[in-house]
Amino acid sequence: MATKLLEDLPGVGPATAEKLREAGFNTVEAIAVASPGELVAAAEVGEATAAKIIAGAREAADVGGFETGDRILERRKLVGKVTTSSKSFNELLGGGMETQSIVELYGEFGSGKTQVAHQLAINVQMPREMGGLNGSAVIIDTENTFRPERIAQMVKGLPPAPEGQSWEPDEFLEHISVARAFNSNHQILLAESAMDLAEKLRDSEKPVRLLIVDSVTAHFRAEYIGRGTLADRQQKLNKHLHDLMRFADLNNALILVTNQVMSKPDTFFGDPTKPVGGHVLGHTATFRLYLRKSKGEKRIARLVDSPNLPDGEAVFSVTMEGLKD
Ligand code: GTP
Ligand code: MG
Repeated sequence: MATKLLEDLPGVGPATAEKLREAGFNTVEAIAVASPGELVAAAEVGEATAAKIIAGAREAADVGGFETGDRILERRKLVGKVTTSSKSFNELLGGGMETQSIVELYGEFGSGKTQVAHQLAINVQMPREMGGLNGSAVIIDTENTFRPERIAQMVKGLPPAPEGQSWEPDEFLEHISVARAFNSNHQILLAESAMDLAEKLRDSEKPVRLLIVDSVTAHFRAEYIGRGTLADRQQKLNKHLHDLMRFADLNNALILVTNQVMSKPDTFFGDPTKPVGGHVLGHTATFRLYLRKSKGEKRIARLVDSPNLPDGEAVFSVTMEGLKD
């Protein structure tokens, strides 16, 4: 898809484009899903102009309409799968983690969510014959748990590189873009900037095929405390998840999000064994995986609900050299 400029939209001159960008509306897609009120505030235009701009953006971005089944099938044919490095985990997922979907990993602290995310950021870069997608990874890190050293360790555990090549940890790190999110608003903004980054890399050697948000719920959970704020929180989280789903569709990318469940009873968020985010996340995530610790390095992944796969469990290990069977 060619990059479209805000200036090409009807009703948008250079000054309006500038104001829109300043307010965070960096792409035609972002405008396409905005409300007129938001644009009125952001660009100091009238209600009618705002509506015209949005209509133009929707047309340009090709969003908001119905799509016929055959076109959806066409798009589904492009779905790629990324290996987890564990045969049993892959089998549970019908081959690996799929692009054009959101995979939610939920589980207690130490259950391995961040480890799986690190492994996938590596694996997505491998060639297709090896279970990768020859793509780049983007990580929105809300808990400051991304560790380049861990990537280097895991690269050592990869199967041998194709003839005449070698795996260089630095090269893998070059194709992982990481941003720290300091609060939930920042996290939402970063998801939008990730869209720009993906657009830039779309025609490159390694287009973005994986977006990780680790953790997707922690900031929301910390900031919206008490029952009175629940609706607000769910609404924002819902918008964020829809941004992520759009990212998945537009870039043929896999979205991997993590979500912690507490072992302690949690009065604000109801059932302690249920993931934070409740139904909003449940209905948006296309694959939900519940991770739990077993003996030593062993971890158990349970597929909770998926559109086309049976529920089940897989056992894998988190070793020094990454995920293994
Ligand atoms: P929270 O983010 O706290 O909710 O936990 P998480 O689910 O993200 O857990 P994480 O993926 O960080 O898993 C931590 C666990 O992974 C540790 O307790 C170790 O068991 C394992 N682990 C982490 N690093 C290494 C390593 O270098 N070698 C080995 N063998 N295991 C590791
Ligand atoms: Mg973690």
